[in-house]
Amino acid sequence: FGAGTLAGLRVVVSAGPTYEDIDPVRFIGNRSSGRMGFAVAEAAALAGAEVTLVAGPVSLPTPPGVARRIDVRSAAQMREAVLAGAAQADIYVGAAAVGDYRPLEVAPHKLKKQDGAPLALQLTENPDILKELAARSPRPFLVGFAAETRELAAYAQDKLARKGLDMIAANRVGAGLGFEAEDNALAVYWPGGGEELPRAPKRDLATRLVACIAERYRATYA
Ligand code: C5P
Repeated sequence: FGAGTLAGLRVVVSAGPTYEDIDPVRFIGNRSSGRMGFAVAEAAALAGAEVTLVAGPVSLPTPPGVARRIDVRSAAQMREAVLAGAAQADIYVGAAAVGDYRPLEVAPHKLKKQDGAPLALQLTENPDILKELAARSPRPFLVGFAAETRELAAYAQDKLARKGLDMIAANRVGAGLGFEAEDNALAVYWPGGGEELPRAPKRDLATRLVACIAERYRATYA
């Protein structure tokens, strides 16, 4: 096997946003389109991996070659699907924009206006899926994403260390890049190294990222 191949490896990729319900008709979401994660899933399958794609609410077709797709809505559902899949996985790529918070309570009926008074919504933190995986033994090779609007390198490297990851792919959001954009640019870091993947369509970038993951995976488990 060449260094860029994922042949014989099982890869779980999470992609897209999560939606946290407020009441039967409203939710808290985010602007992740799922395109980067779907592109990573496709590239990993092309590299020979058996790919499980855990997708948040997106309207994207399943990429060719992806072995299975699990559609979820909330962070809790994503956590469950990822933890189940990751138990047998060699590599987990967390490309999903998992909501940090969810409403403490989901209202059983549609919330009504408060006659001009402010409406307070109490939120509670969601579990961190990557962090939870990092604490497991054995655990898959862990790749996280970091979307930042400033201090990209510092925040990403801090996240790499703090979450106990093997690799992190950082992208600047805004200025036609990142969320909802066709193109992306990534700075990839691992303990003791890194690589810049310059601006390119998300599919090309995903191919390069997967090659980088394969190389680091081989270097780690050689
Ligand atoms: O800390 P932050 O949310 O910026 O980290 C982003 C990375 O962590 C992504 O890889 C994302 O999939 C993952 N994450 C997670 N569970 C959360 C929040 C983020 O796995 N609750």
